[in-house]
Amino acid sequence: MARDTGYSRIRVMPVTGALGAEIEGVDLSAPLDATAFAEIRRAWQENAVLFFRDQKVTPEGIEALGRRFGELTITSYTNPVPGFKFAHSLVRAAEVAAGERNFGDSWHIDQTVREIPNAGFLLYAVDCPPYGGDTGFASLYAAYDALSPGMKELCRSLVAVHSPAGLFGRDGTGGPGKKPFMLAGADKVYNMTPEKMRAYMGQETEHPLVCEHPETGRLHLYLTGYVTRFRDMTEEESRPLIDYLTAHVARPEFTYRFRWRNGSLALIDNRCLQHIAYQDYAGFRREMLRVELADKVAPFGPAMPREAARVAAE
Ligand SMILES: [Fe+2]
Repeated sequence: MARDTGYSRIRVMPVTGALGAEIEGVDLSAPLDATAFAEIRRAWQENAVLFFRDQKVTPEGIEALGRRFGELTITSYTNPVPGFKFAHSLVRAAEVAAGERNFGDSWHIDQTVREIPNAGFLLYAVDCPPYGGDTGFASLYAAYDALSPGMKELCRSLVAVHSPAGLFGRDGTGGPGKKPFMLAGADKVYNMTPEKMRAYMGQETEHPLVCEHPETGRLHLYLTGYVTRFRDMTEEESRPLIDYLTAHVARPEFTYRFRWRNGSLALIDNRCLQHIAYQDYAGFRREMLRVELADKVAPFGPAMPREAARVAAE
């Protein structure tokens, strides 16, 4: 699919062969007219993540912009900007010690332990550290496309079980290869309590391992650190394939690492991308604004057809 042609109102400059494009010619502080919006929407579908530089976006502005792309929603463990419901601020203070890790510092899709994870999100850089704090992206389209026909067929037949235990261990305290969920200092940064943590740890949800993107119709892997096993298989039987696919998705040719500057805004697909927040800026403050876009339908694919997928309540 051509990723940089046929645009009249915006300039679309792909940043890698697998994903991502920088967009020029748009001022996001002003309302977008229908033509410019339609071109941005198409560029988003074709590139999975779009980057806009040198923008001036307020909490009000990011909510208004997000609403153009879909219904807004919230993740209950982050804190809203005072006076706003959907514009959440992600702040890491300069005083937080290097070993105190925020969420998001391993490859993941957001919140796949929910039945209907978010369709995407907007992130805006308010205050960037002088170095570090990049965000990495991996294309789950490219990772799927590169598999052999036999492996594609196997993956299309599987349903994956997603649980917080996949990232944080059975009881949330970490374990071999896992990190603890209640990260030291996280309660200072996030709206997280032990009660919320226990409720969160108890969740377990099934999604097909290969999904069809509801807007592009393309197939992509749907794999994240939350996956503990495949349906009708044990964890031990599932682990070699999970490990293989996890390493496969993170291959350099499927990934891109975005360097933020104050005023950068990213529009991120949460279905066909994994992302990772690099936390290599201890001693510096970082502040981002985020709004999340709700999805209308649970992930579906060959192993779980769309007709059977749960639809969001109106
Ligand atoms: Fe995330």
